[in-house]
Amino acid sequence: MTRAVRTARRAAPTAPANAFATDVIAGLTSKPKHLPPKYFYDLAGSALFERITQLPEYYPTRCELALLRDNAPAIASLFPPGCTLIEFGGGSSRKARILLGAAATIEAYVPVDISGDFLQQDAAQLRRDFPRLGVHPLVEDFTKAFALPGAIAALPRVGFFPGSTIGNFEPHEACQFLRHAGAMLGDGAVFVVGVDLVKDDKILYRAYNDAEGVTAKFNLNLLTRINRELGADFDLGAFEHHAFYNAKHNRIEMHLASTRRQKVRVNGTTIDFRAGETIHTENSYKYTIESFQALARGSGWSPLKTWSDGMVGIHALQRTGER
Ligand code: TRP
Repeated sequence: MTRAVRTARRAAPTAPANAFATDVIAGLTSKPKHLPPKYFYDLAGSALFERITQLPEYYPTRCELALLRDNAPAIASLFPPGCTLIEFGGGSSRKARILLGAAATIEAYVPVDISGDFLQQDAAQLRRDFPRLGVHPLVEDFTKAFALPGAIAALPRVGFFPGSTIGNFEPHEACQFLRHAGAMLGDGAVFVVGVDLVKDDKILYRAYNDAEGVTAKFNLNLLTRINRELGADFDLGAFEHHAFYNAKHNRIEMHLASTRRQKVRVNGTTIDFRAGETIHTENSYKYTIESFQALARGSGWSPLKTWSDGMVGIHALQRTGER
């Protein structure tokens, strides 16, 4: 390497080291400020998220688990024999285990998640519990295209996308995701998608503003991560968790609000905050049964059957392909 190149590299301390730095700077220098929610899930964030799913106010996990348990045989009866179950971004295999237990004909399980630590631990336990199942974890960002393991190439595919994670996409992104998942799962594939329902906004509000403050911690952990990994100096005492239901868009919005006017240094860039200015960290869109079925139909899938307890919905879709 020439001296000039070395000097040039050293002279550019603001040059983003990686995708995390690039995405964070891009989000914090836009108007309004935002951060990509996929970065919530470092080890601490994943553990906090597990705690959210156990909170009394956070009904979606409990409701979806019960709905899966009550209807597992009916859901599994839609799966082709000898199939692979491909789960998008599930974090833990807790929900997939219900389907694996009900459908003895599932040959392989491919959990796809961006958080590798959780995934590997979980896969080891799954292999002990289901010794005949092929377990092939993939550490990938499931919103992008990725290659499936060669071992399952010839098997029919069933997609599984629980947890209302689809609600964390913008509706047009949800449509793109459903199309891209369809292309990957192939013709005739079945897709099981869990979706939180539009409902009383007080129930929705409480689910994202728990009394114990775990959701607040989860949201603020994003700043802790930016401080640690990008050498930023966010004052954790000067930002607050704000979550509310936006009825016009049928979505919960999560923000981090600056409690005062302040400057923050992030990876060599100074970010100015007005008092009360927020960083928008996530949306959680809510759908009615009908509005989700319409989204699915418009994205290359036809609804086969839907199960609901009035709180959340589980949709079994079949790929219709492009018309
Ligand atoms: N997708 C679920 C939801 O939107 C889980 C989730 C994702 C979540 N990010 C979150 C829950 C942040 C609470 C806070 O509800």
